Amino acid sequence: MLKSASRRWSCKQIMAEVFVTTRDGVEHRIDITDGLSLMETIRNAGIDDVLALCGGCCSCATCHVHVDPSFSGILPPMGDDEDDLLDCSAHRTETSRLSCQIPLTYELSGLKVRIAEED
Ligand code: FES
Repeated sequence: MLKSASRRWSCKQIMAEVFVTTRDGVEHRIDITDGLSLMETIRNAGIDDVLALCGGCCSCATCHVHVDPSFSGILPPMGDDEDDLLDCSAHRTETSRLSCQIPLTYELSGLKVRIAEED
């Protein structure tokens, strides 16, 4: 029984993924590790378009991404600090989010984002 439960967990992990389009227009499929932020997931995949200079404490805005609007309803709400930081970006749109402020869960599998232009 324990072996079977373990197999189910592994399958769930494999099926959970996000799609990240880098500044060169290439889309990358990345497996989700439950509990990591979107920023950490992008960085761990070796994508260096996201600088994440503050390490995820919401003080640099170098992890700016544009989120596919079809996912906006299931993302965690934007906090005041994130909103203020995004106001400093010349590339802010209504789909803008800071990827360090999006904790990934399996419910977000299939999420599509595009890394924002560099400020
Ligand atoms: S990593 Fe600095 S605000 Fe997201």
